[in-house]
Amino acid sequence: MPVHIRRGWELPEAAVTPEHFVLGRRKAALGLGTILAAGALGRSALAQDAAGLAAMRNPRFEPGRALTPEKDATNYNNYYEFGTSKNIASAAQRLPQSPWTLKFDGLVEKEQEIGLDDLLKRVSLEERVLRHRCVEAWAMTVPWTGFPVSQLLKIAAPLSSARYVVFETAADRSVMPGLRQSWYPWPYKEGCTIAEAGNELCFMAVGLYGKAVPPQNGGPMRVLFPWKYGFKSAKAIRRITFTDKRPVSFWEKLQSSEYGFWANVNPEVPHPRWSQARERLLGSGEQVPTKLFNGYGEFVSSLYTDVKGENLYL
Ligand code: MTE
Repeated sequence: MPVHIRRGWELPEAAVTPEHFVLGRRKAALGLGTILAAGALGRSALAQDAAGLAAMRNPRFEPGRALTPEKDATNYNNYYEFGTSKNIASAAQRLPQSPWTLKFDGLVEKEQEIGLDDLLKRVSLEERVLRHRCVEAWAMTVPWTGFPVSQLLKIAAPLSSARYVVFETAADRSVMPGLRQSWYPWPYKEGCTIAEAGNELCFMAVGLYGKAVPPQNGGPMRVLFPWKYGFKSAKAIRRITFTDKRPVSFWEKLQSSEYGFWANVNPEVPHPRWSQARERLLGSGEQVPTKLFNGYGEFVSSLYTDVKGENLYL
């Protein structure tokens, strides 16, 4: 009987890319030039095609667990701009996804504002199936399409004095009811060091399950720090600021004793109110052990060897 020996990067059968996506990718190989030249098309046309179809899967980050069903990953969300429940998917549809611009400012050679369509022509898209671990101890494994943030850094051209990067979410009171809660420090901001942003694992997503990132998951563009608790992965990025001072981000301002700057995943460091040892997988509900750096230590642990005297896991 023939036996298939799975290589390290191969996904288990349950986790292979859905057929429509594979077929779509073949279609894309035929029409790639058209797709990438589609700046004149509406955002959704571009995203539907370029975000998913033009991208090859990067096998370096295979997750070793089954994909979360799309309906679970896109209907159980944290997005406080739209409310405090997990059920904000329909409310989030009101956030316009096009046209979309991204601003680079702070310690940069030259301030710039660039349209998403133009930006996508200057980066190389790839697909990554990544684990996401929320600080609330639930997790999902989903296929994102996007590009490494290191490519954005080249476009933004920060000065050598820049040490931190701040990612700022859109804040539109006319469609985001959460912004009326004035005690929250809007707009939602998250930050990291320049070295973290330049790490190969730090990713800017424009696609999810082979389609544009839906608004509820942070469309049209959302930063991902897969080795950190999910609150670091800010949605709907409008502005990226470079600074020489460590930023205080949204959750840190609200409750610094529970949500810190570093927020690296560590099963042995409990949240002040609950254990971080295990996580519940969206979809199956299975409880599995949490891993240090969410299992991405080989890529990121060296970022922290010189950081002394701080809790890297809060
Ligand atoms: N980004 C913004 N702008 N607003 C938010 O409330 N929530 C964060 C993060 N990014 C949040 C955000 C938290 S706590 C988590 S766990 C993830 O988004 C959830 O991402 P998902 O809804 O795509 O699963």
